[in-house]
Amino acid sequence: MYLKEAKAHELDVIYTMGFDVWNDGLSFEEYLAGCRRSEKYQAGTWYALTENDQIVSSLIVYSGMFGLKDGCFGVGSVATLPSLRGKGYASHLVSLVKTELFANHNCKAIYLHSDIDHQFYSKLGFVRIDDSDCMFSSNGPSGFDGLMPAFF
Ligand SMILES: CC(C)(COP(=O)(O)OP(=O)(O)OC[C@H]1O[C@@H](n2cnc3c(N)ncnc32)[C@H](O)[C@@H]1OP(=O)(O)O)[C@@H](O)C(=O)NCCC(=O)NCCS
Repeated sequence: MYLKEAKAHELDVIYTMGFDVWNDGLSFEEYLAGCRRSEKYQAGTWYALTENDQIVSSLIVYSGMFGLKDGCFGVGSVATLPSLRGKGYASHLVSLVKTELFANHNCKAIYLHSDIDHQFYSKLGFVRIDDSDCMFSSNGPSGFDGLMPAFF
């Protein structure tokens, strides 16, 4: 199992992982077309967890936008193939991406906006900001600096 940056030809597989939750009533074709033309999705870096040459879980990482300051990154669109959920893949992926950002990208803090029970991310070292759905994890002792990024 390993982490990689997704390539352009892998994005349809990645977009499809979240269709059951984020389709907003669209048909599969409409949803996919929306993902393909999304400026937000094009502005981030997609990471994928791969097992036996199959992408099993994915997420996007943003920087330099949504009010994320220098050295701060945002994680979004965490999703696992529906048939493979509950096997630890998303947890492993988030942990690997945290390690990658902190070790190799001068990352001071990682933010996310949780759509799901916060416990999933608490277990992975993220702390909730006030009563919001925004959570962060910092590299070192520094805590939240008071500036919450916009929703992404
Ligand atoms: C949430 C999601 C990414 C988890 O992926 P996964 O590979 O199954 O995750 P893991 O196997 O590492 O962890 C499973 C944990 O996630 C929890 N979980 C899954 N869906 C959840 C939800 N909607 N709310 C709260 N917790 C959830 C499970 O209860 C399980 O908890 P446990 O470890 O205490 O048993 C996956 O269910 C998914 O793709 N959902 C649709 C997209 C989505 O909602 N993404 C979240 C964006 S914030």
